[in-house]
Amino acid sequence: MDIVVSGIRSTGNLHLGNYFGALRNFIRMQDENKCFFFIADIHSLTTHPDPKSLHANVKNVLVDYLAAGIDPEKSIIYLQSDIPEIAELYLYLNMHAYLGELAKTTSFKEKARKQPDNINAGLLTYPTLMAADIIIHHADKVPVGKDQEQHLEMTRRFARRFNNFYGVEYFKEPVAYNFGQELIKIPGLDGSGKMGKSEGNAIYLSDAPEEIEKKVKRAITDSGPKEFNSPKPDYIENLFTIMKAVSEPEVVQHYEELWNKCEIRYSDMKKQLAEDIIKVTSPIRERILEIEKDDAYLHKVTTEGAEKARESASKTLKEVRQIMGFRPF
Ligand code: TYM
Repeated sequence: MDIVVSGIRSTGNLHLGNYFGALRNFIRMQDENKCFFFIADIHSLTTHPDPKSLHANVKNVLVDYLAAGIDPEKSIIYLQSDIPEIAELYLYLNMHAYLGELAKTTSFKEKARKQPDNINAGLLTYPTLMAADIIIHHADKVPVGKDQEQHLEMTRRFARRFNNFYGVEYFKEPVAYNFGQELIKIPGLDGSGKMGKSEGNAIYLSDAPEEIEKKVKRAITDSGPKEFNSPKPDYIENLFTIMKAVSEPEVVQHYEELWNKCEIRYSDMKKQLAEDIIKVTSPIRERILEIEKDDAYLHKVTTEGAEKARESASKTLKEVRQIMGFRPF
């Protein structure tokens, strides 16, 4: 039985990228592994949310998790901020994390470019907090999308460095995981890179069907291929990538063939794509509308989850402190 840990930042509702990159893999792993899934609400502080929107976003993510199928009977669901041991381990790991390597991280450079007036130390040390999240439970596998690959590499490095420095074989080196396949990146509908909350190009699990149809219709296309078997421009490749995630393989194949024969009609493809996205999201959306009303249930799930997660985390911290030389007299 492997230990699985993953989390999502609380910056809004979850979109198809979060679902196919992380959530769905996690859900599939619940039956056979010991699974921890949390809401990274401390990580979301790097962008300075006000307290009201922080709380609302944590609730959105929690409701989306439960509606998508994370089962509190099988998995441990908790808020990062409910586990003070994570912050403590983060502090210790920071003593062995270096400015040069942190400043070189792709996500740091991107964020520094996006928010030049707020390049705070939390942004710089984002990967050490993430490493603490993961190794505190001795994770083997971390279901995430392609964009988190570098963070996992750093997590392994920090774990190894701790072991080497203290001369122990204590922390495991976890791997980024996608159910037997390559890590994936779901693109946005605007022809740009990945689907993301801050990119404004996302389809959310909570979107109503009409909203999804509208968004898919707006996706960028062109007048179609002019030659047989021509390569696809990025914005068209993106539509196919999303289709591969939501549609049956025969459907994808059908549109590939039409593309290759220059017979593709984007309006048909978009109609099919919207339909297949709605097939994935509408049962989740129905449960979202139910669960979001049930504050007592959300309270129960998070208090029980925090209790179990703290049990695991405090055992680790006790051992870490011992290894590091914090010993009682
Ligand atoms: P975040 O909140 O940006 O995204 C959460 C998860 O969704 C995946 N994801 C995607 N996958 C494929 N295509 C996309 N377009 C796409 N957009 C997002 C991400 O890869 C991620 O798995 N640092 C993390 C949160 C975190 C975490 C952790 C994850 C904090 N501590 C410990 C795992 C383990 C983040 O910002 O993800």
